[in-house]
Amino acid sequence: MKFFIDTANLADIREAQDMGILDGVTTNPSLMAKEGITGKDNVMRHYKQICEIVEGDVSAEVIGTTFDEMVSEGEELAELDENIVVKIPMTRDGVKALKYFSEKGIRTNCTLIFSAGQALLAAKAGASYVSPFVGRLDDISTDGIELIEQIVTIYRNYGYTTEVLAASIRHPMHVIQCAEIGADVMTGPLSVMTALLNHPLTDIGLAKFLADHKKAGTAK
Ligand code: E4P
Repeated sequence: MKFFIDTANLADIREAQDMGILDGVTTNPSLMAKEGITGKDNVMRHYKQICEIVEGDVSAEVIGTTFDEMVSEGEELAELDENIVVKIPMTRDGVKALKYFSEKGIRTNCTLIFSAGQALLAAKAGASYVSPFVGRLDDISTDGIELIEQIVTIYRNYGYTTEVLAASIRHPMHVIQCAEIGADVMTGPLSVMTALLNHPLTDIGLAKFLADHKKAGTAK
């Protein structure tokens, strides 16, 4: 399972990279705004910086909503770095743009996926990734994990190569459930990745090992 970090914060990206478990980055306009990155030049520079830190795929989202806008923005983004994946919203124009990019060999991530039908359309249009938002579905009392399961089944049934990128991952159990189902990728904040480290028995066990080691040392 690939681990992407869902942030535009360079320090968090570096930390996940230093842990040696990072496979890529996803961003969105809200995450860029959260870091105070505004204006086209700054946005482009920021994506370049992210690509310098991580070796894997970096999703960069278009702001335009028409086919023409998505195509011209996406082409510029794709030129920034070979690891840039153009992130396209699930709309009618978005689907057309997915098809366009797929024919041009430019990789895409279709975002804002909330139903299996949307995921099927994105795969048919040649998206490289689909991003179903698990947490946001859970927020409205709908089972986000069930959607991941449906999409994985559908893609397997027909051999679609589009990767299922479980997005809006909010806690470690989301990660485990997605891994059990066979999602190709999960994207979440650094806190979700570090939460996977923790178990109280690990802490207790380590404290005991160290205490026993110290005792044996002083007994000599
Ligand atoms: C997907 O790529 C989005 O950036 C993201 O996962 C949304 O997560 P949120 O619902 O926590 O904002």
